[in-house]
Amino acid sequence: MSRELPPALRAAIDRELAGVSRRDLAQRTAATTATYRGGGASATAIQGRDDALAYALARLPATYAATCEVFAEAQRMAPGFAPASLLDAGSGPGGGSWAALEAWPSLRDIRWLDASPPFLDLARRLATGNPLDRAEARRADLTAGGFPPADLVLASYALAEIPPPKQPLVADALWQATAGVLALVEPGTPAGYRRLLAARDALIAAGATILAPCPHHAACPLVAPDWCHFSVRLPRSRDHRLAKGAEVPFEDEKFAYLLAARPHIAAEARTPRVVARPRVGKPGIDLKLCTADGLEQRFVPRRDKPAYAVARRLDWGDVYPTA
Ligand SMILES: C[S@@+](CC[C@H](N)C(=O)[O-])C[C@H]1O[C@@H](n2cnc3c(N)ncnc32)[C@H](O)[C@@H]1O
Repeated sequence: MSRELPPALRAAIDRELAGVSRRDLAQRTAATTATYRGGGASATAIQGRDDALAYALARLPATYAATCEVFAEAQRMAPGFAPASLLDAGSGPGGGSWAALEAWPSLRDIRWLDASPPFLDLARRLATGNPLDRAEARRADLTAGGFPPADLVLASYALAEIPPPKQPLVADALWQATAGVLALVEPGTPAGYRRLLAARDALIAAGATILAPCPHHAACPLVAPDWCHFSVRLPRSRDHRLAKGAEVPFEDEKFAYLLAARPHIAAEARTPRVVARPRVGKPGIDLKLCTADGLEQRFVPRRDKPAYAVARRLDWGDVYPTA
């Protein structure tokens, strides 16, 4: 599924871009991307307003799209969940909060915590005149913990920037602040997956219900070099293409995620999940499924018309209907 930025956010980014040299922006985008790819964090990559803007142009559409996918899954798994408050920890320019508000217009109290003044300033400017205008932006170090409680707590692409020894403390503090659902979104890399696995173990031990992506609370059945991750396709605007020096009008963002809920949140039954792109051949479709009994490679033959009709609609990340 393709996830586009909401028109109001697109327009707000365009306003920020007015008068900014595209050449300079492309250079900054290349430099910030190189810093992130080299394992650097926002504290190094984002030195001022234009760096933050380069991130909003080049990375925000992808992190927004991934977070939309995760929230769509939260809505499917917990259809009665209607959060009134959101804590967006490591909010950056606020894309995750835009995704949250799209999913749950019920949100009233929105808090951004971030260490980066240029990101928080940009988040505020992008929100001006929009529903997120009411968000409270606070400069904070996530490693200090003690977060204000919220129905929905989000950390998207943020745990990755916390020094590894402190990640369990931050994950625990995020869970302590969660009154309803905690959403962790990470890059879809083996390292992102490993961070989430560690958080998953701790969350289960703390009594959380894992809503997704796992259809069980048992150990993850994937074995290295395999890892659990998903993909979302997003369109690239002209400026996005220019900034990235890219030709194709879309990109595929790989992400990993975890949705954990407090036990009182009513959840749908968990069913097997498609954990790789389905392989369609002449005789049928091959699906790699994560199930309550472990990994399963299921072949659905074309000649089994009812089962095939179901299987051909499934995509990577979807759940396999049980009935
Ligand atoms: C890659 S950005 C992700 C931003 C946004 N959540 C998104 O999905 O686009 C990581 C964010 O985490 C913030 N961050 C990293 N370490 C932090 C810390 N110790 N305390 C507060 N914020 C931190 C950075 O300033 C940055 O805004």
